[in-house]
Amino acid sequence: MFIRVGLLFLLSALLFGLLAAIQYIVPGAGKDIFSFEKLRPLHVSSAVFWILMTAMGAVLTFLQEINQFSLKSIRIQKIQFYLFSFSFIAIIISYCFGIFGGREYWEFQPVFSIPIILGWVLFLSLFFSNNKTLKDKPVYLWMWATGVIFLLFTYCESNLWVIPGIRNRLVQDMTIQWKSYGSMVGAWNMLVYGSSIYLMDKIVGNQKYSRSNMAFGLFFLSLFNLMFNWGHHIYTLPTAQYTHIIGYAVSMTELFILGRIIYLWRQSLTFDNRKQHIHAYWFLYAADIWVFVNLGLAIAMSVPALNIYMHGTHIIVAHTMGTTIGINTMLLLACAFEIIGGRDTTVSIKPNFKFAFLTTNISLAVFFISLLLAGIAKSYWQFNEPSLPYGAMINTLRPYFYVFFAAGTCLTIGFVLLIVPLLRTKHKIMPDGISALTEK
Ligand code: HEM
Repeated sequence: MFIRVGLLFLLSALLFGLLAAIQYIVPGAGKDIFSFEKLRPLHVSSAVFWILMTAMGAVLTFLQEINQFSLKSIRIQKIQFYLFSFSFIAIIISYCFGIFGGREYWEFQPVFSIPIILGWVLFLSLFFSNNKTLKDKPVYLWMWATGVIFLLFTYCESNLWVIPGIRNRLVQDMTIQWKSYGSMVGAWNMLVYGSSIYLMDKIVGNQKYSRSNMAFGLFFLSLFNLMFNWGHHIYTLPTAQYTHIIGYAVSMTELFILGRIIYLWRQSLTFDNRKQHIHAYWFLYAADIWVFVNLGLAIAMSVPALNIYMHGTHIIVAHTMGTTIGINTMLLLACAFEIIGGRDTTVSIKPNFKFAFLTTNISLAVFFISLLLAGIAKSYWQFNEPSLPYGAMINTLRPYFYVFFAAGTCLTIGFVLLIVPLLRTKHKIMPDGISALTEK
């Protein structure tokens, strides 16, 4: 249910993203009903809710494959599900009615934070009541534990602005806000990476990767990253320089190691491993490629002199969407296909899936490049053509926006063709959890 609701949020993100993109090419179109100011939060919050719901669904499903949940745990899990689903849906409805009141990315009324925080507390208690110790456990359990703890912590931190003493001190307030966002992404990455490593173990049939030094290296780097990567969000704030550099260097190493683990895992698969988990395999493969593409951009963004030029341009949007779509969404779709779609032992790959998968990935590449080019053009204007009015500059970006919109439409079609059949699939119970695996 977590994953199915997550997939509905993905559809909602695509719909609102497309409507927002129309405003790039026809500014102000339909603004009396859905202005860009409304569409952007509708799109971004739906995307964040897709990631959070599906990551929670993957962790909870995999945890139950490791240890069957008691009746009490199942009851807690249900309450957690309703708390998150109702509050996330209520937030989307409140945006539609123009009710805002939060900060960027969490633009809802702070009152919605109460059920969300309660939901995180339940998730935390559920996790630790089913995992009394992490000693000698594979890396994904460490990642999930850290992810759950930090999601609760960073979410509370991101709401500190409601305290007037913090809100009234601009630099501190902004530093806390961007620090919490950076760490929160690190925390959900822990849930997503952990689930992907569990899935890779399951496909290959042993725990070689989840117990490897490289996987624990990734865990400790991700943990460090989660605590310090926010430096690059505040390059333009007058805070200590070293935090900027350390944070970014670590986040790139993390991406590199994740890419390397998926690459080595792919090399070790047998033909049968691939065939039986073909959908998950393809998404993991795509994520691997997107890790390296995003790594290239991240390296460029980490250079403070270049970062100044990129700030406030579509390059940042390319980076954010490139990572949330190319890495997070691909990894989560691998989990969703494995959990809902189950095993396919009869055919290697269906032509419809192949078409949708290729459409999604090729359009994502064009989408990403159009945003980068628009960003470079805007950056050039910011620093070299101050006399050109903003409206005239935006007009010069129009060709990139047309390509962005066309690629976004194909991307949406590709995703819809992947998601709708998945939503219509009846859940197949997977009999062979990781508990059946032997350490080879
Ligand atoms: C899995 C699908 C998607 C995810 C996870 C996603 C995620 C995001 C995120 C996180 C942002 C915030 C960017 C930032 O603040 O820098 C964003 C912005 C945006 N996205 Fe998407 N997106 C998706 C698909 C799409 C599609 C298909 C379109 C349509 C063409 C689209 C259009 C936009 C637009 C117009 C913005 C606003 C950019 C701005 O503020 O100027 N997105 N998206």
